[in-house]
Amino acid sequence: MTNYQEAEIQDLVLSGQLPRHVAIIMDGNGRWARKRNLPRFAGHRFGLESVRKIVSECAKRNVEVLTLFAFSSENWKRPQKEVGVLMDLFMTALKQEVKKLHKNNVRLKIVGGREAFKPKLQALIQDAEDFTQENTGLTLVIAANYGGRWDIMQAMKRMMEDVMSEQRSMDSLGVGDLDQYMSLSELPEPDLFIRTGGEQRISNFLLWQLAYTELYFTETLWPDFDESELAKAIDSFSSRQRRFGRTGEQVEQVAGA
Ligand code: IPE
Ligand code: IPE
Ligand code: MG
Repeated sequence: MTNYQEAEIQDLVLSGQLPRHVAIIMDGNGRWARKRNLPRFAGHRFGLESVRKIVSECAKRNVEVLTLFAFSSENWKRPQKEVGVLMDLFMTALKQEVKKLHKNNVRLKIVGGREAFKPKLQALIQDAEDFTQENTGLTLVIAANYGGRWDIMQAMKRMMEDVMSEQRSMDSLGVGDLDQYMSLSELPEPDLFIRTGGEQRISNFLLWQLAYTELYFTETLWPDFDESELAKAIDSFSSRQRRFGRTGEQVEQVAGA
């Protein structure tokens, strides 16, 4: 595991070698359980342990934003029993963890269509966000009933409302204008995307926001993903040159300046 000194971390963040925003598809809970002859929900339970580890490690490493994909808009298609278990786990986690997160100065934000959740869960989400909103440490974003296509659509609808009420003119709209309506609008774009569990796909996660994100895939199943696995992903990120359309020579010139 890479052991950076505190001051070095700040310098590396500033020079772009460390990710400000890490976004993770936490996949492989079911297969982890099946390998152990356990029911799928046991995999989800152990997955929550990994969430705890990775949240605290990201805070330690001065990551500004950690976005976790907890439940996709397509996951409602799973057996009703599994959906129920996942919802219960989400409720329990919110109840149990919020105080600790608050103590650690973590700001919690939940993105996705929350109207689909039971009123009790919706209230818990609101309370957790309100309780932690002034915190200035890590921003922890939980994507629940989230879909990248849904996000683009809800942003588009809200933008068109502003156009129709003449707060914006259609002619002046550019690519960047949709940004401010997207779910993560006020946060830096993800620098590093991680998907555990071996699949190499986006599965309708952050479609708009991942345009220039560095992608990292690992076979490791989410319940086995720990601090040293995160270190591997960050090391991989740090060794890459991000060009954003420019040439390598141009980027070296800026870095050397
Ligand atoms: C990810 O693990 C958790 C959620 C989608 C909620 P899976 O449940 O998808 O695990 P696998 O892919 O079946 O192993
Ligand atoms: C993506 O995983 C969603 C979450 C991790 C919450 P899935 O397991 O649902 O993705 P697919 O179905 O394999 O693409
Ligand atoms: Mg899966």
